Amino acid sequence: MFTILSQKALLWSLILLVCHFAISCKANQQSEYLYKLIQSKKSQEKDFSSHEEAYYLSDFSDEYVSHEHDVEQQLRLKEADKVKALPGQPKGVDFDQYAGYISVDAKENRKLFYYFVESPLNSSTKPLVLWLNGGPGCSSFGYGAMQELGPFRVNSDAKTLSLNKHAWNKVANVLFLESPAGVGFSYSNNTSDYKVGDKTTARYSYIFLRNWFKRFPQYKTRDFFIAGESYAGHYIPQLAHVILSKNKGKKSLEIINLKGIAVGNGWIDDNLCSKGMYDYFWTTALNSDETHNGIQKHCHFKSYDESDECDEYQNISYNEVGNIDIYNIYAPVCNTSTTETSPSENIFDPCSDDYTTSYLNQPKVQEALHVKATKWSPCSNVLNWTDSPTSILPTINGLRSSGISIWLFSGDTDGRVPITSTRYSINSLNLPIHTAWRPWYNYKEVGGYLIGYKGLTLLTVRGAGHMVPSYQPQRALTMISSFLQGKLPPKSDS
Ligand SMILES: *[C@@H]1O[C@H](CO)[C@@H](O)[C@H](O)[C@H]1NC(C)=O
Ligand SMILES: *[C@@H]1O[C@H](CO)[C@@H](O)[C@H](O)[C@H]1NC(C)=O
Ligand SMILES: *[C@@H]1O[C@H](CO)[C@@H](O)[C@H](O)[C@H]1NC(C)=O
Ligand SMILES: *[C@@H]1O[C@H](CO)[C@@H](O)[C@H](O)[C@H]1NC(C)=O
Ligand SMILES: *[C@@H]1O[C@H](CO)[C@@H](O)[C@H](O)[C@H]1NC(C)=O
Ligand SMILES: *[C@@H]1O[C@H](CO)[C@@H](O)[C@H](O)[C@H]1NC(C)=O
Repeated sequence: MFTILSQKALLWSLILLVCHFAISCKANQQSEYLYKLIQSKKSQEKDFSSHEEAYYLSDFSDEYVSHEHDVEQQLRLKEADKVKALPGQPKGVDFDQYAGYISVDAKENRKLFYYFVESPLNSSTKPLVLWLNGGPGCSSFGYGAMQELGPFRVNSDAKTLSLNKHAWNKVANVLFLESPAGVGFSYSNNTSDYKVGDKTTARYSYIFLRNWFKRFPQYKTRDFFIAGESYAGHYIPQLAHVILSKNKGKKSLEIINLKGIAVGNGWIDDNLCSKGMYDYFWTTALNSDETHNGIQKHCHFKSYDESDECDEYQNISYNEVGNIDIYNIYAPVCNTSTTETSPSENIFDPCSDDYTTSYLNQPKVQEALHVKATKWSPCSNVLNWTDSPTSILPTINGLRSSGISIWLFSGDTDGRVPITSTRYSINSLNLPIHTAWRPWYNYKEVGGYLIGYKGLTLLTVRGAGHMVPSYQPQRALTMISSFLQGKLPPKSDS
């Protein structure tokens, strides 16, 4: 139980975090939505910690999977989704793009938006990757596709695009899904549907996939992978669990050929990830010894119920961090009043969120994407999150025996869901080590480090923040290529 004082303290730390990280909030709202969720769990003591089969699969039949078997109809829908060109796209685009809605319920109320880019070369043999961003409530299209691993980046004029040399469609066909309904262009015409949580998100993402495969039948049996970051540390293992459970007893063409999942800077355990964040603040010199000692002494990270002293020290901790980009502690922050921007191949422009938001709100862009006119924002303001397990570790642990490959990767300059959080989470599973800790190489440089456990691999990406492909595009591409080929990234620099 919380005293009134303690709830006030929580409120204070929320306000402080939002104010102090205001600039970075603008730069990336994914984790602030996560923070708000954790705060609401604390104040409402909502704790849905169960990981039973029933948690994900109760009252969930295949009834919403479209029974549309009309091949020609599906072909027409697919052709209608083809994007001729995005406004302002550069010359030399040599791959196909599709964008549109997929209905996921029988009443056709919920419509989920997808953006799909094929690989320019050998797309018919390359794997299919679904990318998911977190929040909860943030857009995989606005972040993943337009700022991280997609084929384009929005230029600072917010009107033109440039090619991302390290786009993941070099090695895969990549599908971006805005999920659940209420995020980005995805919507429902019944606002009751905006009351959602992990369970419904997994359920409708699964139905989305089944229906998407009807529109793109050539991908039905393709090797399929799910990757993403942040709160997708919930979405990805949960969706994988639903897919594998639903695959049981299905005919081969109804099976989703899931081969692996890769989770970047994932929020996978409320308590261990919080503890890891404060420890990272200390080890990277964002916090004083006194504050670290205070947190060590007063915070237990065993439940949401912490003492007033703990709340106070956490408050002090945020204040000490100051105004930096917490998602990449060494990066510049966005300053819209300066003209000195440095958008170049390897330096991520911290104002990208602004350019993307402005670009995606242009009527001609929305028309090209085949969406209904929408005030698009990177993270949703309409969702009420109803369920979220305290820990996803039991789900991840359950997947380890399924034979799919499981990679947890971590940009090592992210302060929001840092490497320490991921390490504490994995360490709590006490898994036997199969591959000893070693560096991995990207061309002549160390791209990061890795360690292989039984059924699970941890990799760091050196010098990358929360959005790994934004900050280290080349290293991220090397890493994901290895992942898709089912092998570890290079052992040496030769
Ligand atoms: C948090 O810090 C602010 C200013 O630094 C202070 O006004 C506030 O009372 C603090 N709250 C708690 C619970 O310590
Ligand atoms: C929602 O949209 C579907 C089709 O787009 C329509 O059949 C249904 O009646 C709509 N419902 C409401 C409440 O507007
Ligand atoms: C495409 O496939 C062909 C035939 O399998 C192969 O020879 C070629 O190297 C592939 N190209 C790329 C870029 O993967
Ligand atoms: C909207 O959804 C709620 C909850 O499922 C349902 O009770 C209600 O009838 C729906 N309204 C419409 C107009 O479909
Ligand atoms: C933003 O840039 C302007 C112009 O260079 C400068 O005057 C201002 O101090 C900067 N603001 C911040 C918060 O860095
Ligand atoms: C979500 O919660 C807010 C207040 O917490 C409430 O005003 C709003 O109506 C809720 N929305 C839905 C869709 O339940």
